[in-house]
Amino acid sequence: MNVGKLEIGFLLMKTSLEIFQEVQSKSYALGAFNFCNAEILRGIVEAVAELKTPVIVSTSQGEGAFLGFKRARALADTWQEQLGLNLILHLDHGKSLDIVKTAIDAGYDSIHFDGSGLPFEENVKITQQVVEYAKQKNNIMVEGELGYLRGASAPGQKVIIKKEDLTDPVMAVKFIQETRVDSLAVAIGNIHGIAQGGQDPHLDLARLSEIQRAVSDSAFLVLHGGSGIPDEDVKQAIKSGIVKINVNTELRVAYANTLRNFLLDNSQETTPYKIMESVVTAVKQVVTNKLKIFCE
Ligand code: G3H
Ligand code: ZN
Repeated sequence: MNVGKLEIGFLLMKTSLEIFQEVQSKSYALGAFNFCNAEILRGIVEAVAELKTPVIVSTSQGEGAFLGFKRARALADTWQEQLGLNLILHLDHGKSLDIVKTAIDAGYDSIHFDGSGLPFEENVKITQQVVEYAKQKNNIMVEGELGYLRGASAPGQKVIIKKEDLTDPVMAVKFIQETRVDSLAVAIGNIHGIAQGGQDPHLDLARLSEIQRAVSDSAFLVLHGGSGIPDEDVKQAIKSGIVKINVNTELRVAYANTLRNFLLDNSQETTPYKIMESVVTAVKQVVTNKLKIFCE
């Protein structure tokens, strides 16, 4: 099954940059889904294999440390070889040059350095070092971040977004010029996690358009906090230049709730692969739904 008019299918032998360019030229967005174990990765890959879309599979610092960065690489390689998929393995929210180096040295294809909590000049300085290291090593793609994203990847977030949190278009241009990042994560009213009540506040799409006009084609724009955003806002954000969308919380919720319910209903079951079957299916369903929106 193909999603809409998406025919780019299995992008064998393409570089991460070529995949970004192709997705952008078709006005789709790449889904970037977090994983920290083999079952979540399996759910993501099964959805991708059916829909024939490209995909980014990400580990945060914590997820990578739990699974092992080299094991994450090996798992992604196994799926790639078995199904002919081209998965981009990505470090999400790396907070130091050291962790970036760990992921790159483990064979990651793409890196996000998140210096958004630092003063602008400090963020630029470390991002420059990250870009220098990444470009020496096989031209790894680098995502920077400017603007402050509140919340954490869990449901029930009580977040008040302040105007000064949002990405400033002029500073975005300066940041890209000074760091030479390939992509930029922006704060446009998005939050990490799902807001209390089940749906996040609306995105500031006017600001996104301003950022897009200012930045033009100098970097791909990235939307973090892809869980809980109204679908219509997501579609509009893609039309306004978003090329990559990160999703974690909705996978975590599907995973935890399905596992919890299965064990409550089957309290005598002890065989892990029987327990995990419905969990993998639940993760797959979330990814399928998201990809259909991203690739419409
Ligand atoms: O970097 C990861 C994403 O921004 C995840 O956000 O947990 O709100 O889906 P989310
Ligand atoms: Zn994020």
